[in-house]
Order: sequence, then C-alpha cells, then structure tokens
Amino acid sequence: MFVLGLESSCDETAVAILHGRRILANLVSSQLAAHRPFGGVVPELAARMHLEALRPLLHAAMAEAGVTLAQIDLICATRGPGLIGALLVGFSAAKAIAWAADKPFVGVNHIEAHIYANFLAEPPPVPPLVCLTVSGGHTGLFYLPEHGRLQCMGATRDDSAGECLDKAARILGLGYPGGPAIERLAVKGMPRLSLPRPTIEGSLDFSFSGLKTAVVNLSHRLIQQGEELPRSDLAASLQESVVAGLASQLRAAATACGARTILLSGGVAANKALRERTAALAAELGAAFFVPPPELCTDNAAMVASAGSFHFARAGPDGLDLGVDPDLTP
Ligand code: KG4
Ligand code: ZN
Repeated sequence: MFVLGLESSCDETAVAILHGRRILANLVSSQLAAHRPFGGVVPELAARMHLEALRPLLHAAMAEAGVTLAQIDLICATRGPGLIGALLVGFSAAKAIAWAADKPFVGVNHIEAHIYANFLAEPPPVPPLVCLTVSGGHTGLFYLPEHGRLQCMGATRDDSAGECLDKAARILGLGYPGGPAIERLAVKGMPRLSLPRPTIEGSLDFSFSGLKTAVVNLSHRLIQQGEELPRSDLAASLQESVVAGLASQLRAAATACGARTILLSGGVAANKALRERTAALAAELGAAFFVPPPELCTDNAAMVASAGSFHFARAGPDGLDLGVDPDLTP
C-alpha cells in the first residue's frame, strides 16, 4: 500500500510517501530561518509559507518515490493540535487531493503521529507499551494497551519541555530553536547549578514553567551582580534537570503498568542525553526500547503517514467533512 502523508501543523511543511512501513520519500521544508528573527513561530507567516512550499514539495516527493498520484492508496494529513492557519493548508490540500483522485483520507493527531514514528522501525514495537512524547507543543506520558486505545498517563500542566528549552535559550541569547542550541552548549558545561525538577510529586504530571522561571531569575541575579553568565554550565544544568525529570516520570509510569516496551518520541527526543538516559532506564527495567532516528523525532510527514496507516487499517477512512482542530488532544 502506498501512503501519502502531509504535515503542516507548525513551522515545517512536510510530505512523505510510504510503501507499507518503508519510507520512499520524506521531505521537510523548514521555515526556521524565516521565524528566527522573531524568536518563535509567527502563525500568519507560517500559514503563508506552507502555502508556497506545499505544491513543489508534493511534486518532489512523488518524483523521489517514483510514484504517481494514481498509485497512492491512502492520503493522511495532520488534523491537530497546532496553529489553525498552518493546519488548514496541509489538511485542505490533502482533502482536495483525496476528493479529486477519489482516494481514502485520514486525519491524524500530531501527538499520535510522533508516537507512531516509532512504528516505522523494523521490527516495529508491539503494544502494550509506554511512550514518553516530548515536543515543542506537548509533553506527555502515554499507555498504549493496543492500537486505537491510547491513554494519557501524565502531561504537563503548563509549558512543554521544548518550550522551556526554547525560552531558556532565548534568555541565554542562543536563538531559536533552543533545544539543539542548549544541547550543543551543555556538552561544554557542568550541571553544577541547582535548578528545580519539572516533576509534580505524587503524580505523573510535569510542570516546566518553574524551571523556566528559575533560569530567568538566576540569569538576572548574576547579571545584576555583575557576574558573567556561566552559559555552558547553565545549559548543562537545565538539560540535566529536564532529562532527569522526564526520566523519573517515565520510570514511574513504566513501573506502574509493568511495561515491557518503552518508546520515546517528539522533537526533544532528538536530544542525545535524553535518548541515552531513557535507553539506560529501559535496559535497567528489562524493557525493549524504541526511539526514532533524530530526523523522525522532529516534525515530519512519514510519522503522519505511519499513524494514518494504522488508523485506516483499524477504523477505515475519515469523511471529507472532517475539520482541523487546533486543540486536539490524543
Ligand atoms: O516535535 P517538534 O519538532 O515540534 C512540535 O511538535 O512541537 O519539537 C520541536 C521542539 C523544539 O522545542 C525544539 O527546541 C526541540 O523540539 N528540540 C530539541 C532538540 N531538537 C529539537 N530539544 C532538545 N535537544 C534537541 N536536540
Ligand atoms: Zn511535533
């Protein structure tokens, strides 16, 4: 089965074509450079840039995969959560193509898509499993007893882990996106500064706003005292606090449901320290561990096609009257 996936929920326009679970094309047009001067994603700009990028990217993906529209068996697009204007571009295009070419269509939850990036592995993970999903828009722990029954075990009560890293990076003058910049700087520093953990005791939830504020306050205090910012130590301490907090809640979740399989996903899962810490945790718990390669952790359309394929096999196509939902929950 040839599956076309479209992703446009934030600042990456992405098109992918799968044959079964094999990736034939996986193209991403990033808007990072356009948003960088603003220190974050400008929604209106994002929507306009998706509109410009989508058609050429679609043609390039078809050419790379060596597949024509007539051969495509299923069309999937991200339905939410995300920026409404951005979502509408990819979603409307996918529905229009599905209608014109008379192909089945599936709307995909972006968070589920991040989780299903793991199902492109060979061999794929097998539920029941626990998944930690950490992106710029979301941070959560999920239990998947079987396909189609995703349950949220814990989530952030305020900022996501990615947001926390992005905002802290802005304070440190590292630019946008902050996650990769913090990671590069952290390698040069020591995690010697004391920062709060982003966990909430007695629950599997997270809170990253206190950690973010602690970085702001510490930076301001040092600047006021005329001291030079220990930027690499601050980056290392922040990364350590984020990774340790995520890992300890993942441990609690995996233990609570006796998970034999642990998954990691989302843009922050591209972080080497987090990948290593969660892999070590899984090994300690005797669980199988899956994390997508970094390019499938950050936003892409292969994960959308993957999630859409599983949805289609289980529940069939969606109607073309389905709309986007910027606040869609898993
Ligand atoms: O999943 P994603 O591409 O988009 C959303 O769905 O939000 O995640 C983007 C987030 C950003 O906050 C970015 O700073 C973070 O992922 N990120 C990283 C790394 N690469 C991307 N965070 C830490 N280390 C990285 N290497
Ligand atoms: Zn994402």
